[in-house]
Amino acid sequence: MNDSRKPMPRGRIAGSMLAGLLAVACGAPLAQERDVTAEQFEKFRAEMEQANTAELFEAKGEDLWKTKRGPRNASLEQCDLGLGPGVVKGAYVQAPRYFADVGKVMDIEARIVHCMITLQGFTLAELSKQPFSNATRTPEVVSLVTYVAGQSRDMPIAVPQSHPKERETYRLGESIFFFRAGPWDFSCASCHGEDGKRIRTQNLPNFTNPAGAPRSFIGWPGYRMTGGLMHTLQWRMNDCFRQQRFPEPNYVSDTVTALLTYMGANANGAMYKGPGIKR
Ligand code: HEC
Repeated sequence: MNDSRKPMPRGRIAGSMLAGLLAVACGAPLAQERDVTAEQFEKFRAEMEQANTAELFEAKGEDLWKTKRGPRNASLEQCDLGLGPGVVKGAYVQAPRYFADVGKVMDIEARIVHCMITLQGFTLAELSKQPFSNATRTPEVVSLVTYVAGQSRDMPIAVPQSHPKERETYRLGESIFFFRAGPWDFSCASCHGEDGKRIRTQNLPNFTNPAGAPRSFIGWPGYRMTGGLMHTLQWRMNDCFRQQRFPEPNYVSDTVTALLTYMGANANGAMYKGPGIKR
């Protein structure tokens, strides 16, 4: 992260400033108050999911997976997502995980990018140029992640924690999640560390407990109704770093993998329903 930033004053001033900002930004609804906006959105989302907009991207991703592409004119069918070369079924719900060939933990998007580089001959620089969907283009990797995710539909989330590196990456993710800095002295936990917080009409899930944590996994990759774009969790992380007024991490950085490991393992046991719809 950026070391040139001045450290924020800690203690009472920063604490009360944060409390004040949160009261404005994330006013908690009364416990018994009916959240009509959220209820209506949930209805709308359920209907949209019936129409399965994300499946379009799954189909496109499957095509891309099987097509010979790149400078080496190879398909991704030999890509090892952790369960052996070519095994796609169940890989999404078991990542991030440790990969012996690179000696570190990778999340699914980082691993697909790794395969595009090693098998197909693309470069990281090329793939990092515009990694997230915008109005003019959905990057191939977004469709590929959506395809792979669809192959874990209706399987329980099972992010492994047996390898020492997996546990180390979890702990790293946990400390990043609680690391406060930036002009607002925010951490991820400032917005996602307690129940009942919201910004405007958006409920902010609490990822630190087993009830809230699955929301960091379920429905991703997601077709976002705001803007009508398909997005992966890599995008969500960058957008939340922006919300936090932090510098955005590089594409497929280890920082993002660590956060996804922390939140993913907290979500273990919940049922993954496949790519979904997000607000
Ligand atoms: C200033 C408040 C704020 C901070 C700080 C913040 N986020 Fe978020 N986060 C949001 C908002 C707003 C949403 C969108 C909620 C929605 O769409 O309903 C969101 C959504 C998410 C989601 C998707 C949740 C879902 O329901 O699909 C994840 C995962 C997430 N944030 C993780 C993080 C992580 C990790 C960090 C720290 C790097 C972080 N956030 C920092 C405000 C914040």
